[in-house]
Amino acid sequence: MEYRIGRTLIPEEKIREKVKELGAKIREDYAGKQVVFVCVLKGAVVFFSDLIREMGPDVDVQIDFLAIASYGASTKSSGVVKIQKDLSTDIHGKHVVIVEDILDTGLSLNYIVKLLRERGPASLEICVLLDKAERRTQPVEVKYSGFVIPDEFVIGYGLDYAGRFRQLPAIHVAEPAD
Ligand code: IMP
Ligand code: MG
Repeated sequence: MEYRIGRTLIPEEKIREKVKELGAKIREDYAGKQVVFVCVLKGAVVFFSDLIREMGPDVDVQIDFLAIASYGASTKSSGVVKIQKDLSTDIHGKHVVIVEDILDTGLSLNYIVKLLRERGPASLEICVLLDKAERRTQPVEVKYSGFVIPDEFVIGYGLDYAGRFRQLPAIHVAEPAD
């Protein structure tokens, strides 16, 4: 199936406001602490780079990256999660915030949380920009959540369809191109 850029679901200004709001909460919660922000590649990379810049000097920020198998060229999950790139730092005893673009079935984050929890972090929380709440099949506890969105495939602001459209500054609905 071919997709094209459809209507704007969340414009740039709304994303910016939300990132500031989420950033302010995280900054307050972790003031004076050392935190490892974990970016889930590739989709979260745009959100991640905006979010960490909201921390200012009050939070002692470290960053790391994790890649898991994604949807590939389909808009539905394969149901299989696999680590493609692991963290390069030891998170034992550290405060960790996982940053993800979108929470859909919960399969990916459920897996990531289990994996990272085994490594004994001091704390482990999740920050997601988008949440397709009605699609959840796996339990995931999210402390920082941006927007609850309907069950539509979205692209832009890091989110892709078959590796494309990540560069768009706003979030759009992917529209089937006939
Ligand atoms: P989950 O494991 O089903 O929660 O899926 C989460 C992952 O699926 C995200 O990290 C995204 O990479 C991808 N995903 C889910 N919904 C969308 C979407 O609407 N657009 C782009 N990617 C999506
Ligand atoms: Mg993806």
